[in-house]
Amino acid sequence: MKIVSVKNLKEGMELAKPIYDKYGRILLQKHMKLSPAIISRLNDGGITYVYIRDKDTEDIAIIPPIPEEQRLEAIQKIRESFDTMKKNDFMKNSYLIDSHANELGDIVNEITNELSKKKEVIHYLSDILVTDDYVYNHSINVSIYTLALAKELKMKAKETELIGLGAILHDLGKLLVPKDILNKKGSLTDEEFGIIKSHTELGFDLLRKSHHIPLLVAHCAYQHHERLDGSGYPRGITEKEIHPFAKIIGVSDVFDAVTSNRVYRDAMLPHEGLEILYAGAGKKFDKKLVELFKRTVALYPNGLTIYLNDQRVGVVVRQNPSAYERPVVRILRENDRNVQPYDLDLSETLEVMIIDSD
Ligand SMILES: [Fe+2]
Repeated sequence: MKIVSVKNLKEGMELAKPIYDKYGRILLQKHMKLSPAIISRLNDGGITYVYIRDKDTEDIAIIPPIPEEQRLEAIQKIRESFDTMKKNDFMKNSYLIDSHANELGDIVNEITNELSKKKEVIHYLSDILVTDDYVYNHSINVSIYTLALAKELKMKAKETELIGLGAILHDLGKLLVPKDILNKKGSLTDEEFGIIKSHTELGFDLLRKSHHIPLLVAHCAYQHHERLDGSGYPRGITEKEIHPFAKIIGVSDVFDAVTSNRVYRDAMLPHEGLEILYAGAGKKFDKKLVELFKRTVALYPNGLTIYLNDQRVGVVVRQNPSAYERPVVRILRENDRNVQPYDLDLSETLEVMIIDSD
């Protein structure tokens, strides 16, 4: 299968994976052939990329970090937990959070378990799902990246559970921020930006009142937007004052935010998201964490179309564990002409460069 941007979809293309709605229900079946009506529906549904089946890329596998069903189930559980908390005026009833703490802890353990079985880097584009409820999807994605980093850092089981819970709950305060401000398309006024920033303090207040949630988890919500150079918020604290967990969650948060589709802009690809982290490495983000992140996610996920500097175009077949920036590519076109497909290992052809992808 290959990844195709919704902008480049054509009538008759066949879906290689189902597409789900925000409740985890199948919206479009696997093997469905795309009609113009479906293509425009995908455009409207906020989808950026879809997996398409074709004969030249039939054998290319895209292995998600956790099984798709499990991810959808986890998103629903997070949605239920967060919604119950919100409905019950949870500023006054913080005990409600306690009843959900165990359930969220189970999600953390399941993700940790799945990641421990995997040797591959994470390659999935985080917005295959149609969703207008960004927070739930984002919570699970940030947890996956954070727990993958925790694994690389060889964190102990207890610490892993804590940071995982911190990652799931880091944006809890956003439930108290009006949706029209969160999803505003134009630029924000200072006042609106102030309201968005307050999600860190709101989340902290909520979580620290809970008897079942360790204070450190509340601090993850409080500090995940703080940056090493003091340019973050809410307090503008610096390197030594920021808890290591908040630094890790902060990196995962930025990566998922820029590689996800938002109402106000399209998603970036993983290598572009990583550029953003590199631009801030040492200033905003811990340089070692950024390096580690690069080894945790696939820069060019399997199935992605890439353009080479010698006029060749191909689809990523698999990753090179020793050089993630130079995957194996199945060449399909040369000088604007289709060719008999063949695989090219970019780690063995260093003179060839990737110049673009879509
Ligand atoms: Fe946040």
